[in-house]
Amino acid sequence: MLLDGKKVANELLEKIKLEVDKLEDKPHLAVILVGNDEASKIYVRNKKRTAESLGIKSTVIELPEDTEEKVVIDHIHKLNNDNDVSAILVQMPLPKHINKDNIINAIDPKKDVDCFTPENVGKLATGQKPYFYPVTPQGILLLLDYYNVEIEGKNVVIIGRSNIVGKPMALMMLKRNATVTICHSKTQDIESKIKAADIIVSAAGKKVVRCKMVKNNAVFVDVGISRDTHGKLTGDLNWELDFNNFNEVVSYFGRVSPVPGGVGPMTIVSLMLNTLLSKNMSILSLGTCSFFESIGLSL
Ligand code: GUN
Repeated sequence: MLLDGKKVANELLEKIKLEVDKLEDKPHLAVILVGNDEASKIYVRNKKRTAESLGIKSTVIELPEDTEEKVVIDHIHKLNNDNDVSAILVQMPLPKHINKDNIINAIDPKKDVDCFTPENVGKLATGQKPYFYPVTPQGILLLLDYYNVEIEGKNVVIIGRSNIVGKPMALMMLKRNATVTICHSKTQDIESKIKAADIIVSAAGKKVVRCKMVKNNAVFVDVGISRDTHGKLTGDLNWELDFNNFNEVVSYFGRVSPVPGGVGPMTIVSLMLNTLLSKNMSILSLGTCSFFESIGLSL
């Protein structure tokens, strides 16, 4: 069956909108975009459009490619100190002359809706509660939970070891009592590891997986986004080599997420949830936020 991220995301967006409507003081997401990365521009535009459709305030600070690191950090400090801004996101990747660690370290952890800061990542790694869970892994778990995919005790193979997806996904899967394997470009005999997986989360950004490498009835979550030779968006699953159409792929797997329409919309929804949470933090600390519980968000 299809892991229909678009459908699940739309349902969640409606619920988030109702919650935002109730707030007199709206959440406010500030995004910093440095440079001319075309994909980043599209992602940022989508985030802004989605936020505004929910009544969430959004500010995008666009800076030229040659902006000095210090200037970006000054912008972050200003946003940290702005009481109206509840959430800060610095779009990655940054231009090469900027040290991304210095940028991330400048963000107030209480506004770090990406879960990039050492405080939040450290909390995630040690089993403490971060202020926010990382958006893509959180979106994937919401998608798997929606379809009642069991995680506890399962062999989960994660392809990719990025700070944005692979590593935090592994930590969150461990917390859900999965047995986790992280594979990457230097992994030996990746095929045997993929074959043993009950759930695969593929975040390679290249068409590295063939359907027949995966055991029948496994769950395949495709995080990859790349363009094929015709410019069409595709994921990490090179299904065209084994099947004629995606319906055949869907019946081969236990569950599979398409690209586009799978993890992408869930990531945006997850960011919107974190932005709502950024405004609700004081309510949550009192343990009274039933909305997040009602949608199954583990906080
Ligand atoms: N670039 C690609 N994915 C992400 C993300 O989740 N957050 C940020 N800040 N940048 C990204």
